[in-house]
Amino acid sequence: MSHKSDLIASDIEAYLEAHQHKGMLRFITCGSVDDGKSTLIGRLLYESKLIFEDQLAALEADSKKVGTQGEEIDFALLVDGLAAEREQGITIDVAYRFFSTDKRKFIVADTPGHEQYTRNMATGASTADLAVILVDARKGVLQQTRRHSYIVSLLGIRHVVLAVNKMDAVGYGHEVFEAIVAEYREFARLLGFDEVTAIPLSALRGDNVTESSVNTPWYYGPSLMEHLETVQIEQDLRHRAFRLPVQWVNRPNQDFRGFAGTVAGGTVSPGDEVRVLPSGRQSRVARIVTQDGDLDEAVPGQSVTVTLEDEIDVIRGDVIAGAKAPPAVADQFQVTLIWMHEEPMLPGRPYLMKLGPRTVTASITDLRHKVNVNTLEHVAAKQLELNEIGLCNLSTDRPIAFDSYEENRDTGGFIFIDKLSNDTVGAGLIRFALRRSENVHWQALDVDKRSRAAQKGQRSCVLWFTGLSGAGKSTIANLVEKRLQSLGRHTYTLDGDNVRHGLNKDLGFTEADRVENIRRVAEVSKLMVDAGLIVLVSFISPFRSERRMARELVEQGEFVEVFVDTPLAVAEQRDPKGLYRKAREGRIKNFTGIDSPYEPPEHAEITLDTMSSSPEQSAELIIGHLARAGLLEG
Ligand code: ADX
Repeated sequence: MSHKSDLIASDIEAYLEAHQHKGMLRFITCGSVDDGKSTLIGRLLYESKLIFEDQLAALEADSKKVGTQGEEIDFALLVDGLAAEREQGITIDVAYRFFSTDKRKFIVADTPGHEQYTRNMATGASTADLAVILVDARKGVLQQTRRHSYIVSLLGIRHVVLAVNKMDAVGYGHEVFEAIVAEYREFARLLGFDEVTAIPLSALRGDNVTESSVNTPWYYGPSLMEHLETVQIEQDLRHRAFRLPVQWVNRPNQDFRGFAGTVAGGTVSPGDEVRVLPSGRQSRVARIVTQDGDLDEAVPGQSVTVTLEDEIDVIRGDVIAGAKAPPAVADQFQVTLIWMHEEPMLPGRPYLMKLGPRTVTASITDLRHKVNVNTLEHVAAKQLELNEIGLCNLSTDRPIAFDSYEENRDTGGFIFIDKLSNDTVGAGLIRFALRRSENVHWQALDVDKRSRAAQKGQRSCVLWFTGLSGAGKSTIANLVEKRLQSLGRHTYTLDGDNVRHGLNKDLGFTEADRVENIRRVAEVSKLMVDAGLIVLVSFISPFRSERRMARELVEQGEFVEVFVDTPLAVAEQRDPKGLYRKAREGRIKNFTGIDSPYEPPEHAEITLDTMSSSPEQSAELIIGHLARAGLLEG
């Protein structure tokens, strides 16, 4: 069977016309090179005749030279050859290949199959409608088969092909095939697929790849290509509720205000009633504008600009939705999080969360458990490492409009971005909201921060001391507090050693515990600022990210970061509590500066050099700074 259309030769116009209206199937292949994945993809490309002639000639020559498959063409070489041409420097290693037959167009996501590459697989699977899961007939269902299937199901794929490959190596044995299929179906029952189609294959010999094989007379099902060409995918995003996440607000002049974005579900027409989330304001669609003129209807995947009948506030990141079935709005969620970075995910740490065009700050409030992707067991954990998957509670700093991932991948899927490095560090799927924001209102109080501070005749602020253990933070903070008191100021000092005896006595010194330590003390300092106090916080607080979080909790100008800059060698020599010695002897683990990192501030308001100044001089320097910054005014 040739997939090169005769139409190309006879009527190119008709061919292009037909091509344009062919449906598209996106699929992912899961398995390792050993399972014959490259060979299979290579053969699908080859059979669809989309390989250029010169590439083919080179391939035949290469195969003879390398000779792993005798006189036959080694299709694996083809895919690996294409792989070498891939763009360099991408962290996510997914190659998308395009091919087509008379019936359909295909995009196949090919990802490395190795254990560590959960993140690659997740990326490839997030846009796929179907997964081809490869099994080597000689090995049967392996842990990796289960892992791949789990990730595929997690990312919302409901159609699976179990490709039992290398049937030639087991003499095309019917029983071998049936045994593997039975074992797989037993496991797959847990994963909620709509359909699992099992096909006996030999990618190498071409059995059941594009045509039914005479070697498997006991198999009556379709070849892989036939199945891919005909499988019914309910791509019907059209029948879902209308969603338009606003990418940007188009306002070329006073008379035109349009909201541009890609339709992420449902359809919309002029006159339709819509609601804008999260504000909840309602209006009607006036026009649907595109480059090629106005439309009567916009459908999923289309990029459009919508104008509304009423002048209502819409900003980038809002969602315009059908008024009858709008998305929910919330700021607390249960999510599945797939971690993609070498630095672990630490609960409490603030990350940027990007959901479509909307970006907010979010943190994990509770890592409920992680999932062993091989056995599906739930495992208790304090942090998520690279390629691990966890069930988490998440909280955002602002309410956002969302759907569950199951309802809509575009409005229910998100990525996590590190605030400092800007790297993508995780991907997540919203399961459901833990609390709908419309039911929780911020309690407005008549007595507020300003009135409380005014009563004390002062302005409230945080003096945040950071530096190594033994740097002199507490000594200097103590002197500053005494000076402030003598100036009639109302103060309070939160000191690491003290707070760790009470509020934070459940925490140790792992990275995760330190993040939580600082998160709690930052929240307490915020409350104290609200109470009208000048708060002195003296914690090692070794990570930039959490110090930044503490800064962002209070108003601009209320946070004064004081870096007590004492070199490690000096702090270690002073060793006031004898802890460095113990750490060097290995009797204390995770000691800052020894086997746990300290990230010095880059933009501290005040940096103190404790080698050249005495504690008293340092304290005066701080008082001077506060006076100049207007923080000592009444
Ligand atoms: S932080 O890193 O989480 O900010 P914090 O300031 O609360 O640390 O506590 C640091 C104090 O705990 C140190 O001054 C020291 O007395 C004590 N300590 C005990 N073990 C360690 C350790 N492994 N690393 C650092 N400090 C420790």
